Amino acid sequence: MKATNNLAAYEAEISEAEHLTVSFSEEQAALLSRLSSEISEIGGIQSPGAKEISIRGARQLASCLDDEQSSHIERYKQGRLSSLAFEGLCDVRLSHAPSVLPSPTELKTHPSVLMLGARNQILLNILDHRSFSYDIDNDGEQLRLVANFKGGGVARLSQEGEFVEQSSHSGLSLGPHTEAPYWCSSSAQGGHSPAPSALILSAMWNPGNEPTTVIPVAPILSNIGPTNTLCLTSRSFNFTRSDSFNAGQGEGGGGISILELDQNHGFSIRFNSYRFSVDDSASGLVQRAYMEFCSAVSRSAGYKYVLSQQSALVINNLRALHCRDVVKDNRRLLVRVFGYSKYVNPIVIRDDPLLVKG
Ligand SMILES: [Fe+2]
Repeated sequence: MKATNNLAAYEAEISEAEHLTVSFSEEQAALLSRLSSEISEIGGIQSPGAKEISIRGARQLASCLDDEQSSHIERYKQGRLSSLAFEGLCDVRLSHAPSVLPSPTELKTHPSVLMLGARNQILLNILDHRSFSYDIDNDGEQLRLVANFKGGGVARLSQEGEFVEQSSHSGLSLGPHTEAPYWCSSSAQGGHSPAPSALILSAMWNPGNEPTTVIPVAPILSNIGPTNTLCLTSRSFNFTRSDSFNAGQGEGGGGISILELDQNHGFSIRFNSYRFSVDDSASGLVQRAYMEFCSAVSRSAGYKYVLSQQSALVINNLRALHCRDVVKDNRRLLVRVFGYSKYVNPIVIRDDPLLVKG
């Protein structure tokens, strides 16, 4: 009887909404802005002490939420959403995009960028997630600038080279993926920390209203059916190295599963449409399941979210894929931070700011 009840609860859950929005009141947005300034004034989320301010700030903000806001946040914490948007947030100082995007070096220390990073860190904490970075990625820093610095967008950059990397620092379209690394999702394995549980994005500038696409995985698994889903849990898949890793660091790998069943998160997915392959030695059943899965992913439209300074989007990296089209306006600048849920056990190199082995 208990199994039947669990199954009914699961079926009700997969028919629920995958995306919800928490709209902040003016007072809540002003409080978040004040708390973000405290972090920005000490140098941003990469500074020791930012972690404590964001934990305290999240607690203060959580105490001002109404019932509906709290229930949406609770749904996210329980792992039942693919994404959660926060809206009604305050603009940071520079609301209009300049004619040309400044260099990453200038942007990284810009007070408005630091504010967005701080805001992201506090919002992650509201969801019981801690911000972190990998030693092998983004020079070990938590705040990642997502923009076309290296070319591949619709409009050519003046310094654009022949080879353009496929990463969040280029303008190329990025097919459906979860964020690397791809070895595991909850406990460290083979000397590698788990994949991020979540990523949070805010837009500093998005003059062309270019969207980010989120593709929930639960409907795709329902679509391909139980046998194919089971095959995705086998360790039959390989991946190539991510271009976003620091030069000379990180690696491709193999013998991993795409899907993992997990006590706390329900299930977790690891996949990248342009980096994954099925191993030649996998059985015909698994090879076919992989084809079915890739085909279902490519047919899935997902939903599109247009970021602005007044919003932030948290994507559940264990339950959803995300992708984007080729960058059209090279002034588009997003600020991204990774988060770990409280159930994740990484290999910690440094606690404040949290740095883990990739
Ligand atoms: Fe991504």
